[in-house]
Amino acid sequence: MKGLRFLGVAIIAVSIITSSVAFAKDNSTKKQYTKKELKQLRDVFDNYGCSGCHMYMHKDSTSGPAVAVIAAMSKAKTKEWVESWIMNPKKHYNEPDVRALINQYVQYMPNNGVTKEDAEKLYEYLMAVANGAYDKKKK
Ligand code: HEC
Repeated sequence: MKGLRFLGVAIIAVSIITSSVAFAKDNSTKKQYTKKELKQLRDVFDNYGCSGCHMYMHKDSTSGPAVAVIAAMSKAKTKEWVESWIMNPKKHYNEPDVRALINQYVQYMPNNGVTKEDAEKLYEYLMAVANGAYDKKKK
């Protein structure tokens, strides 16, 4: 019985330590943005017309997944993949997960003529959204 109790305590201790390490690691990657910086990134998103299909306020539209959704999807992928997708989605249409989205939205994301420099900004914007810098007031 004593041995079991010790094992239980040890498991709890290890999980607390690993979760706090994971938390610390996650926190260190979160950049704090000023309102102005965030607006500049958001302007890039709006100026390319991304927000025409990707809506704010966690709402999906028939034209595409919500901003928070594509931000979370982008966070799960590499920076290189996301920037490549933003600059040339067509290159990725045949990948199985993309194909599933195309079938779901009955829509192909078009090429929006995004430059490499702006693709980096858009990636940064999506990461800021994924990490919680989300302007809830704006629709
Ligand atoms: C005409 C509508 C439309 C526009 C404009 C548009 N998208 Fe999309 N986007 C979609 C659709 C639809 C999907 C789901 C994949 C598909 O069906 O092609 C998508 C998917 C995505 C994804 C997720 C890709 C993945 O599989 O992880 C990202 C990121 C994204 N869009 C970013 C952008 C950015 C940045 C812009 C502006 C440069 C933009 N989109 C403009 C319709 C659009």
